[in-house]
Amino acid sequence: MNKKIQKSESEKNEERLISPIESPSDDKLELTLRPKVLTEYIGQEKIKKNLAITIKAAKNRGENIEHVLFYGAPGLGKTTLAHVIANETGANIRVTSGPAIEKGGDLAAILSNLEEGDILFIDEIHRLRKAVEEILYPAMEDGAIDIIMGKGPTARTLRLDLPGFTIIGATTLASLLSAPLRDRFGIIHHLNFYQIEDIEKIVLRSAGILGVKIEKSAALEIAKRSRRTPRVANRLLKRVRDYCQVEGDGKVSLDICLEAFKVLEVDELGLDYIDRELMEIIAKKFKGGPVGLNTLAAASGEELETIENVYEPYLMQLGFLDRSARGRVLTELGFKHLGLKP
Ligand code: ADE
Repeated sequence: MNKKIQKSESEKNEERLISPIESPSDDKLELTLRPKVLTEYIGQEKIKKNLAITIKAAKNRGENIEHVLFYGAPGLGKTTLAHVIANETGANIRVTSGPAIEKGGDLAAILSNLEEGDILFIDEIHRLRKAVEEILYPAMEDGAIDIIMGKGPTARTLRLDLPGFTIIGATTLASLLSAPLRDRFGIIHHLNFYQIEDIEKIVLRSAGILGVKIEKSAALEIAKRSRRTPRVANRLLKRVRDYCQVEGDGKVSLDICLEAFKVLEVDELGLDYIDRELMEIIAKKFKGGPVGLNTLAAASGEELETIENVYEPYLMQLGFLDRSARGRVLTELGFKHLGLKP
């Protein structure tokens, strides 16, 4: 546990193979592998169907599409879908994020530079400051921003009309957004974890693009260990490919793939040593819980937000962890996975 203490959050996530958080080394890979149009996009069938209708209807009316909010765990494709929408509608897309916009004036500058039909993608939109968020309200509702000129009693408000545009926001949880902001999105979609079969298809598609020869059974094995998250699947594929090139003949067979996962320390459910360590802390130190998130963060040396956004969603999805009013509880299944008795 202590070997991680000196490292920053991003360094830790980068070295964690199965982290769904984007790392700088993912950038180039994601750009190559990212589907460009809806028909190339695998999984999230309901969302695709709805978006296809939204896009077609707006095109027929000659209008911009309504503001769209995507929410869901990291790595599930919120950014990819924003780019797909831009491609399908032929719109320019500008990309920014909640934490990157420091002042109201920064957002006003971005908005006033938009051109007719542009899409503004705001990642982590729940992290916009209140003062910035308030600029967004009239922009989204009336297509205008209010600029305050001067100070004190002589201050005047100048309303600046903006060209037509679409905001696409992305957040991990819809409940993190203030109600007034959430209400201004005409279209809200929840991205769920993918079906294993869909991740298998994504791995096969990515292997094709990367020119990697892969057995179908190996693609399924990677899919099973990818936490039902495309970003993790693509990263695992890359690492397994490296292993096969160095230790084998470059072809990803099931045997060598299993060998690679042993070395990479990713188990058959996609859990790594930090997941297991967290579960063991709850099991042994806190007798299975409930244990408060703060206490768990202190006991594990992990950041509270990382536990909540990265580890917990998948452990809960597997049924290994429960959230109760009094804290986190390791379930019977969780104990069983560790080979322990509740
Ligand atoms: N790469 C990452 N996510 C994808 C998806 N949903 N479909 C196809 N390729 C992908």
